Amino acid sequence: MTRAVAALPLALVVAGCSGVQTMLDPAGDQARDIDVIWRTMLVVCGVMYLLVLGFLAWALWRARAKPGGGAPVTGETPAEPRLRRGLAGWTALITAGLVVLVTVSFLVDRSLAEVGEKPLRIKVTANQWWWQVEYRGATPAQNVTTANELHLPLGRPAIVELAANDVIHSFWVPNISGKTDLIPGRINYIALTPRRIGAFRGQCAEFCGWQHAKMAFDVVVDEPAQFQAWMTRQTAAAAAPADPQARLGQQLFQAKACVMCHRIAGTEAGGTMGPDLTHLKSRSHIAAGTLPNDRGHLQSWIADPQAIKPGTRMPRVALSSDELNAIVAYLETLS
Ligand code: CUA
Repeated sequence: MTRAVAALPLALVVAGCSGVQTMLDPAGDQARDIDVIWRTMLVVCGVMYLLVLGFLAWALWRARAKPGGGAPVTGETPAEPRLRRGLAGWTALITAGLVVLVTVSFLVDRSLAEVGEKPLRIKVTANQWWWQVEYRGATPAQNVTTANELHLPLGRPAIVELAANDVIHSFWVPNISGKTDLIPGRINYIALTPRRIGAFRGQCAEFCGWQHAKMAFDVVVDEPAQFQAWMTRQTAAAAAPADPQARLGQQLFQAKACVMCHRIAGTEAGGTMGPDLTHLKSRSHIAAGTLPNDRGHLQSWIADPQAIKPGTRMPRVALSSDELNAIVAYLETLS
């Protein structure tokens, strides 16, 4: 039992070193650079800290060992040249530590400011409390709009243009890069060069209101060919549902308040206040990383969004259970 308790901090430290939302497990060029600076700072500051504590302990021990050792003395004592040498050595050590930190920080900063060849351009707009994501294609028909998810091709640099519609938010995918704020009335940029295939989690990193914590997004890094296939699927309009219940759901969607805020390409729904739902079912989460994207969660989300994310702009729309089922059946067809 004691051993298990003793091993707990170690287990926590090790567990914190990998995962889908940690800067300690870099999966992109920028995160790797930041990891270098973090490790350097940890080593330099850790060594200095231990030395300071060590000398402090030594000084305390000496003062105790020599009764009256703390009494004031005047004039040069035999120990002073040694103290002067010690002080000079200490100053040199601090200077060397600071030079290492400044150099590493300068080099990492330069490297973060660089963008590789032919970057992919993506625009991310933050809203209370979700993310709009737009890819610009060669022609307007190839533009892709999605929400709360970012797809990136492996190894290709991406430049993300960051905007905000209401308050200040902060874009952060810790496994791939650092943080950059999204500020209303201003465009910021962040470069992402993913180096590992996988799914990662991004999170708003600036307090932006009540549901700040429920403002996450999924980041999917794929082989370039798979990424291209995803892009192609996303440019397609939604197919008309074949199932009668889903067809009824589409009619209800267009007759109720849903249509005021959401867009579904290929239908009359053209709202832009909320997330684009054309390919809703291709995403792994709903409500900005808050719930898994399955039938049950979709149902509970639409039935009462305010219970799940109090303060969200999505209102509670009065629906009978048949209407709710039909709308969910329709949304389930949006693959
Ligand atoms: Cu958006 Cu915090």
